[in-house]
Amino acid sequence: MNVSKYYDLDAIAGEVAAGKHRETVGGDWDEIGMLQFEYLVEKTLQPVHRLLDIGCGCLRGGVHFIRYLDPANYFGIDVNQSLLDAGYNVELAQAGLQDRLPRENLVCSGEFEFEKFGTKFDFAIAQSLFTHLPLNHIRHCLTNLASVMEVGGMFFATFFELPSSASIAAPFTHFPGNIITHGDADQYHYWLMDMSHAAARLPWRIRIGSGWDHPRGQKMLLFTRINEE
Ligand SMILES: C[S@@+](CC[C@H](N)C(=O)[O-])C[C@H]1O[C@@H](n2cnc3c(N)ncnc32)[C@H](O)[C@@H]1O
Repeated sequence: MNVSKYYDLDAIAGEVAAGKHRETVGGDWDEIGMLQFEYLVEKTLQPVHRLLDIGCGCLRGGVHFIRYLDPANYFGIDVNQSLLDAGYNVELAQAGLQDRLPRENLVCSGEFEFEKFGTKFDFAIAQSLFTHLPLNHIRHCLTNLASVMEVGGMFFATFFELPSSASIAAPFTHFPGNIITHGDADQYHYWLMDMSHAAARLPWRIRIGSGWDHPRGQKMLLFTRINEE
């Protein structure tokens, strides 16, 4: 069995070919797209900033970021080429935004190969990515991301938080949304200290992001890139 449902590339491509790319990334297209966009703008994202969207899918948030940022300042990476293609060919085309995004700003990789963009970033976001990843993949992401973030840059990542009193092994139900998460299967839950552990020895300061109100109970983490010791 795949550790993440998104690693079954053929199954995802089949859903996308059936015209279901919005559902494949979780649905609630307008609400969750706008939620992440408004959140980053409130956290001081400006058009001149370069933004990396990790696990960008078919651009649910990307459509809004691409409209707002200066042309070519949005960068997206995703393990599923089919979702990237739906984002560019369907969603950006419908929104009339393709001319604001060079096609090479969308990279297909599941290995967190951020150096492929050949630039550094002021902001990064992973909306509903860590919820689908085992802890070692999250650590891999944080390690590679630290190399491409400007000092002072901010990385916002959502996760399903497990109360410190709850067992990691037992399923846990989150509110609102009634999503059931697991310690060892997609969708994953973590204690906050698991996230600190994943960032250990890396140049990140980590805290809970304020003011995030997700319809399915995901919490927001803020990783700020600090100077190397
Ligand atoms: C729930 S969807 C969210 C997509 C997008 N962030 C949004 O809000 O619409 C999770 C996305 O993460 C992508 N993903 C999963 N594992 C990944 C990995 N290791 N590297 C890059 N993308 C990954 C999936 O293909 C999928 O597009």
